[in-house]
Amino acid sequence: MRPFWPTGRRGQQIFLMKRHSSSLASLVRWLDEIGRMTDEPGRLTRTFLSPAMRRANTRVGQWMRAAGLTVREDAVGNLIGRLESTAPGAKTLLLGSHLDTVRDAGRFDGALGVLLPIAALAELKRRGAALPFAVEVLGFSEEEGVRFASAYLGSKGYAGKLRAADLKFRDTKGVSVGDALRMLGKGKFSIPAAAHRSRALIGYLEVHIEQGPVLEAKKLSVGVVSAIAGQTRGRLTFTGKAGHAGTTPMNLRRDALTGAAELVLFAETLARGCEPLVATVGTVAVSPGAPNVIPGEVTLSLDVRHPHDASRRAALKLLLDVAKKIGRQRKLAVAWQATQDNGAVACSPELTARLEESVRTVQRRSLALVSGAGHDAVVISSLTPVAMLFVRCREGLSHHPDEFASSADLDVALRVVVDFLTRLAANTTS
Ligand code: GLV
Ligand code: MN
Ligand code: MN
Repeated sequence: MRPFWPTGRRGQQIFLMKRHSSSLASLVRWLDEIGRMTDEPGRLTRTFLSPAMRRANTRVGQWMRAAGLTVREDAVGNLIGRLESTAPGAKTLLLGSHLDTVRDAGRFDGALGVLLPIAALAELKRRGAALPFAVEVLGFSEEEGVRFASAYLGSKGYAGKLRAADLKFRDTKGVSVGDALRMLGKGKFSIPAAAHRSRALIGYLEVHIEQGPVLEAKKLSVGVVSAIAGQTRGRLTFTGKAGHAGTTPMNLRRDALTGAAELVLFAETLARGCEPLVATVGTVAVSPGAPNVIPGEVTLSLDVRHPHDASRRAALKLLLDVAKKIGRQRKLAVAWQATQDNGAVACSPELTARLEESVRTVQRRSLALVSGAGHDAVVISSLTPVAMLFVRCREGLSHHPDEFASSADLDVALRVVVDFLTRLAANTTS
């Protein structure tokens, strides 16, 4: 029987394009579906080990299985889909990103980097292509640092980088990371060792929306990341004395919030004058928190980033010195608890060169970008060389419900990853 599609080389191309678009359709559908899995009605919020995260892992696991992967969940809630290779001595290529989100998030940050590789592997399966290396698709359980103010708990667990101190961070309900993990494992938890030794790994590829405006300005669908900026996060607590808002004279107050406010404004002024330094206070907790009570204690989050580690450290030192000075002037105690400290990470020149080749094949032009956002690749770089593909997002907007990447751009990214896997397979001698 004659096939219903045109035959010959041209026909094969049309056939592959048609089939490719069905993987794209799946990807778009999956992004929509997972974008509705939330812990908060009316907005997308999915945090470490939450009910919505459990649902996301179950559903993404089903999509992984349908693409031919074997699925498991590790001790820190990472979802891992593995495709074995029959090639003798086959190494493993890692692909992935995170499935948690910020509060009131967009649908693409993280999820894209988990779902796109599944679509790419489904595409290769449909083509009947067998890879001479194993593949692991990783859906990390925690990258955003929302629940515990400390990011990368998932990738740290996978890379054997979790430390006892990480387990002590507490969420706003007082539950520690360790307690949450013990609940997940129904009573048992011991810090996992690295899932792989680097000799058995080829590298790690993370696909992510750009979260910035450069690709849009350059009219490009995708770009390649050269390095990821370092970041420090922590909690800064100002402690004064609570008291009656109607009876305590202004000059006798030790108001923790007015002291904290001075620091917030100083952080903004400092960063504005020291580009590309960025400094953000994203949360403020005021205690006891009543309109008629002078704030006795304020804890704020501080997030400081710079592409150069020495500049980031110098900025942090200045911020903490100024916080102490404010404390002395206002008779407030000041305490700093660092929850995260990651140096800048360079992507692997070899893997990146391969990725650029695929980008040039699909898009003709490749563009190198530095990432101001943190990514799981930062932690995974301790395990194996990393590369990242950025996908254009509308107005560079992210960490916002209007975050958007077009199907046309997702298609380009999918083609790049399929091309990358195909070339890597062609160049792998086992
Ligand atoms: C992760 O999204 C970050 O905060 O960079
Ligand atoms: Mn992300
Ligand atoms: Mn994010």
